[in-house]
Amino acid sequence: MQLELNIDHIEETEKIAKAFSETLGRGDILCLQGDLGAGKTTFTQFLCRSLGVEEYVTSPTFNIMNAYEGMVPIYHFDVYRISEPDEMYEIGFEEYLYGRGICIVEWANLVDELIPDRAIWMTILLNLEGTRDIKVEGSEPFIFKLKEHLDKIENRLERKDQTL
Ligand SMILES: Nc1ncnc2c1ncn2[C@@H]1O[C@H](COP(=O)(O)OP(=O)(O)OP(=O)(O)O)[C@@H](O)[C@H]1O
Ligand SMILES: [Mg+2]
Repeated sequence: MQLELNIDHIEETEKIAKAFSETLGRGDILCLQGDLGAGKTTFTQFLCRSLGVEEYVTSPTFNIMNAYEGMVPIYHFDVYRISEPDEMYEIGFEEYLYGRGICIVEWANLVDELIPDRAIWMTILLNLEGTRDIKVEGSEPFIFKLKEHLDKIENRLERKDQTL
């Protein structure tokens, strides 16, 4: 099942990341794809913060994976520099995929043969005007839950506006 979202301001990215943080759980895999500069790391930073990570999240381009302790363990991969998917075995990718944390994989499309079917895929498209189109693909229960959390966050924000 799939969900399409539009972002015309960075606060939207933060809101969507918050909804993801409330929807993802242990063992989930979030695959991020999109061109250079699409906003994969930025989304991951908001997501990690919402998941309780206090330290500053940076792109693991050179070391391939950074681990964080949030409400659950978080494994943030950036596989852009991988020259062939086999290299992922060397860093124990599979153990993380089937482990007890949340895996976030930037450039997952480059190693898609290693990604289990149950993974959630997010595609970020940066438009010329600087807006972003986001496509989320996942199981029906995941997409329903994500929508519910997005609506709740939207309502909370609207209520806050009214009291201003
Ligand atoms: N929703 C957004 N609104 C405005 N600016 C954004 C948004 N998302 C990301 N950016 C900006 O776009 C730039 C690139 O973002 P980011 O590093 O997250 O991209 P990336 O997809 O991780 O790129 P790479 O493929 O190089 O890792 C950053 O300067 C970031 O602040
Ligand atoms: Mg990045």
